[in-house]
Amino acid sequence: MMQQVTLGMIGGGTVGSGVVNALQRNADLIASRTGVNIRLARVAVKALDEPRPYPIPAELMTTDWQAVVNDPEIQMIAELVGGTTLARTIVMTALKLGKPVITANKALLSAHGEELFATAARHGTNLYYEASVCGGIPIIKALREGFVGNRITHLYGIVNGTCNYILTRMKLEGADFTAVLKDAQAQGYAEAEPSLDIDGHDAQHKIGILASLAHGFWVNPKDVYVEGIRHISRIDIQFAEKLGYTIKLLGILKILPAKTTAPGRSSKARKSTPEGARVQVSVYPTLVPNSHVLANVNQVFNAVFVRGDIVGDTLFYGRGAGKDATASAVLSDLADAALDLKFGTPHRVPPFATHDKKGTVAKIEEVASRYFVRLTVSDVPGTMARITKILGDARIGISSVIQPEGHEGETVPLILMLHKASSGTVSAALSRISRLPVVKAPPVMIRVETFD
Ligand code: NDP
Ligand code: HSE
Repeated sequence: MMQQVTLGMIGGGTVGSGVVNALQRNADLIASRTGVNIRLARVAVKALDEPRPYPIPAELMTTDWQAVVNDPEIQMIAELVGGTTLARTIVMTALKLGKPVITANKALLSAHGEELFATAARHGTNLYYEASVCGGIPIIKALREGFVGNRITHLYGIVNGTCNYILTRMKLEGADFTAVLKDAQAQGYAEAEPSLDIDGHDAQHKIGILASLAHGFWVNPKDVYVEGIRHISRIDIQFAEKLGYTIKLLGILKILPAKTTAPGRSSKARKSTPEGARVQVSVYPTLVPNSHVLANVNQVFNAVFVRGDIVGDTLFYGRGAGKDATASAVLSDLADAALDLKFGTPHRVPPFATHDKKGTVAKIEEVASRYFVRLTVSDVPGTMARITKILGDARIGISSVIQPEGHEGETVPLILMLHKASSGTVSAALSRISRLPVVKAPPVMIRVETFD
């Protein structure tokens, strides 16, 4: 028999009104597939007369979110407000009442996820968050359920549409970062205050959430190494292209070899002992080989490349934001929460393994990769010799060199592709190189990913 579950929504903006519209269109479809009819009972907003991407029926609207969350007839809550203060109160209040909560709020999960998931578990309910990472791409469900039988050894994600849009246009048009950002803001592709996106923090929130799911322990966002795209210049994109690469802002997760303790005196200590899972969790601009599928993910699109130890390589592609794509993710969570309520079984694969918190996030200095380095140098005899001496002393190999031909004595770019080395070693060598009198500007260093 068809059962009914009552939903209360807090937030009726881009995502919230998108969900209202999507439910109007497809609630019947969900009901036919799940046997549960989701009835939207109330939508709380800040101001009733605010313009909205999709209309919300006036009789559903209120400005009193507490009345919605506390209404005993409302069985599940969607938090679509954003931010970390009011949203935390809303989510905590609903979870403590034992109501499942659906959120799209990556900033909230990043700041308070551990506490919120623990509260949900304590009160026998679930916190759903498919829409918080990569909008319409069902990557949370894939990691949480689809890959439950896999160790996720590698994950590479283009998870910020704004950065991908800017980098795509810089490459296609040969344009500067500042000009493209300005135009993206004018067209509504970038926020007026763009730093959350372009400085990598939005990607940091998302990759922290994916890392906690993939690696099985709560990853503190403070441990996620982040570089944004402000320092990426047209010239770097052009030289990368000459070398066969495209620059993308990648969120990267990798399982690294476990550290071992130095052999000690006792026979017990002499055995090397692994210290638990060591993982890389980072966000930085990366040179991606043009032959790799991620190099061809353009404009505002997102993509996540996941390698599991059983499944091998998989790829997820789609819109990472927008009212309809994000609503699609919320609908998926609503259906799961409705099924939980229908069958009274709120047991899902946990968002991270609470029984095993032994993993650690490696410091970026310890993480090895290949590098693209752009130096600005005086073209005088001995320049290359001094630079290669410093790299050689640090045991860093050069795999390729480009210096555009110019007149002797001129300042020219010198591009070096470096073999694999730890970030700390390369940073120390570049710091020495930058002090050479022949080096005329701070070195630019961008990591290169080989997807091995
Ligand atoms: P909007 O700013 O468009 O909507 C926020 C909503 O919250 C508005 O409807 C606003 O009311 C309401 N609100 C604010 N304060 C209160 C309050 N005190 N009481 C009740 N309602 C309140 O944000 P988005 O829809 O874009 O984002 C919502 C969430 O979804 C965020 O966490 C965001 O990170 C996430 N997200 C957004 C995506 C997108 O494409 N936009 C993609 C993926 C995730 P009013 O309308 O009256 O101002
Ligand atoms: N600002 C984000 C992006 C969308 O540019 O991808 C919301 O997650």
